[in-house]
Amino acid sequence: MSTLVGVEAYIFDAYGTLFDLKNPVAARAARVGDKAFQLSELWRQKQLEYSWIRSLMGSHADFWKVTGDALDFTLDNLNINDPALRSELMELYLSLPAFEEVPDVLRTLRSKGLKTGILSNGSPTMLTSVVNHSNIAASLDFILSVEEIGIFKPSHKVYHLAAERLNITPEKVAFFSSNAWDIAGASSFGFQAVWCNRGNAPNERLPGQPIAEITNLKDILDLLEG
Ligand code: LAC
Repeated sequence: MSTLVGVEAYIFDAYGTLFDLKNPVAARAARVGDKAFQLSELWRQKQLEYSWIRSLMGSHADFWKVTGDALDFTLDNLNINDPALRSELMELYLSLPAFEEVPDVLRTLRSKGLKTGILSNGSPTMLTSVVNHSNIAASLDFILSVEEIGIFKPSHKVYHLAAERLNITPEKVAFFSSNAWDIAGASSFGFQAVWCNRGNAPNERLPGQPIAEITNLKDILDLLEG
């Protein structure tokens, strides 16, 4: 029995879902020795926290600014004063690699006549840059950034933007994210949300459950109809 039924568009989160964040950041952060793990964890956590706080405050700034602010806080908090490292870590965001299975999965979905795209907190420049860098532009029908509406996921306004742009009802969207909080947002909005739980994380205690849980995006192909 297929899990995803009546889907007209396959939409993906970017960071951690299509593009690997952890390994490249860990490799670059290695030069701060035993602070490396804390640096990468706290940076990502602060980045998300700032995005949510700004959304609640109604004080939007794009994801590049939020990411830089989160990095500055993190470096400060860990007493790391290394401007070259700061630039390198920020630049990394423009050249993150796609996970190994991504090009094939997108190509296969497209070859079945299915629409594919990205819905991300990333700014348009950040998203275009990683998409081009990983050579997957030809397998994507659209790249949607929250910058169009100036609020971050998991605001329902963001998921609404995608449904509206595609001119389809929410239940016709299959949405994939490695972030359980993003799945909570997408599922409670009405998307068929699939959690790509790459890191064997526990589920968030939030409203909006995934319709399925996978560990690698290639498992999507087993969830399709027919
Ligand atoms: C995104 C982040 C939040 O791509 O993973 O939207």
